[in-house]
Amino acid sequence: MGGSVHDLLELAISTADAAGVMLIDKRPADLGVAHTKSSPTDVVTEMDQAAERLIIDRIRASRPGDAFLGEEGGETGGSSGVRWIIDPIDGTVNYLYGLPDWAVSIAAEVGGEVVAGVVAVPVRGELYTAARGEGAYLVHRDGSTEKLRCNAGVPLERALVATGFGYLPQRRAHQAEVLCGVLPRIRDIRRGGSAAIDLCSVAAGRVDAYYERGPHEWDFAAGALIAREAGGTVGGLHGRPPSVELTIAAGPGLFGPLHDLLAPLDPERD
Ligand code: IPD
Ligand code: CA
Repeated sequence: MGGSVHDLLELAISTADAAGVMLIDKRPADLGVAHTKSSPTDVVTEMDQAAERLIIDRIRASRPGDAFLGEEGGETGGSSGVRWIIDPIDGTVNYLYGLPDWAVSIAAEVGGEVVAGVVAVPVRGELYTAARGEGAYLVHRDGSTEKLRCNAGVPLERALVATGFGYLPQRRAHQAEVLCGVLPRIRDIRRGGSAAIDLCSVAAGRVDAYYERGPHEWDFAAGALIAREAGGTVGGLHGRPPSVELTIAAGPGLFGPLHDLLAPLDPERD
């Protein structure tokens, strides 16, 4: 089963909306306080799994032949040539603490290429969307829509750069070393807590660039398309594609200088 890019995008939007509503409605009010003391991960893991189930069930109901890659469920094969790449909650620590910056990220890939991507930020009432070749958009809760353009021509020393840190202590220790090399050379750093939103923030010009070691395909698939469709460059080191090793995203003129600052700092090492 094929399906136009627009059909895939519409399905991603309605599904991300539904998952966002569920995640807000079903989030226990005392989640942050109660569950950081006893079992910090369990309730969040349950919500993650429930959201991923909702997303897959909804998509399967209209497209039974599609494949899935989800943060919670891993890889399941299909026969249609379409694969959905899903992060049910990106920014789980923010979700746990009741901070607004968590997202539902859904991308549709056809023949190995991401053609549609949606990042819903339910608490902010923001929905970022892109279809390949058709630009990136931010739809607000009131329905108003902005076409996104990332910032162009920002010199490295004036760049506001988002990044993130992994969960493993050893990885974090090295990420802190890399940060020591980056911070004195730029305007400032932001650590928002969601790689998907960071990429959308590049697209929206809310930050100038983003880099991080560690995010997986489900974290960046939708956001990378959105950043690219807003005019940004997204890649890894030395011409490689974005990957778990490293993802860099920046507007025109900034990707190169940021890449060249990062490369000698060995940011792919743990
Ligand atoms: C994490 C967030 C965070 C990033 C981590 C990711 P999760 O995803 O995107 O911003 O720094 O690398 O693992 O665990 O909240 O789905
Ligand atoms: Ca994630």
